[in-house]
Amino acid sequence: MRILVLHGPNLNLLGSREPGLYGSFSLEQINVELRRRADGYGAALSCVQSNQEGVLVDQIQLARGEFDGILINAGAYTHTSIALRDALLAVALPYVELHLSNVHAREQFRHNSYLADKAIGVICGFGASSYFLALDGMVAHLSAKTQ
Ligand code: DQA
Repeated sequence: MRILVLHGPNLNLLGSREPGLYGSFSLEQINVELRRRADGYGAALSCVQSNQEGVLVDQIQLARGEFDGILINAGAYTHTSIALRDALLAVALPYVELHLSNVHAREQFRHNSYLADKAIGVICGFGASSYFLALDGMVAHLSAKTQ
């Protein structure tokens, strides 16, 4: 089982960025814990962060044939990017959309997602644990498929 984790814009600042909203864990700490949990599942994990929409599109395109599923926190691109949606649909890999914060309890413009309706699931509001719950969900989904 091979899982790609994509972190979108400004998530490289986790830990120092609005900690009241996003928590005090750094992105590296989240990646380390994700890898530890993935190891426990016998899953291989790759983590990529980019502030650039096109780089994220490239990473999604490259995932075809290399990964079985994608966990994506697209940050603000969630609410704006048809290009990310199209790339995810093009590679036809199952993906989980996730957010640290509860986007539905925030500004109206964060309530829209261009990714959510095609995701196998959406998780938000649990801080760093949103990533771990997303991993659990993806592993359960992929395991059910191979049975
Ligand atoms: C976020 C929520 C987005 O609305 C915001 O633009 C982010 C982070 C989250 O993880 O809560 O950058 O994706």
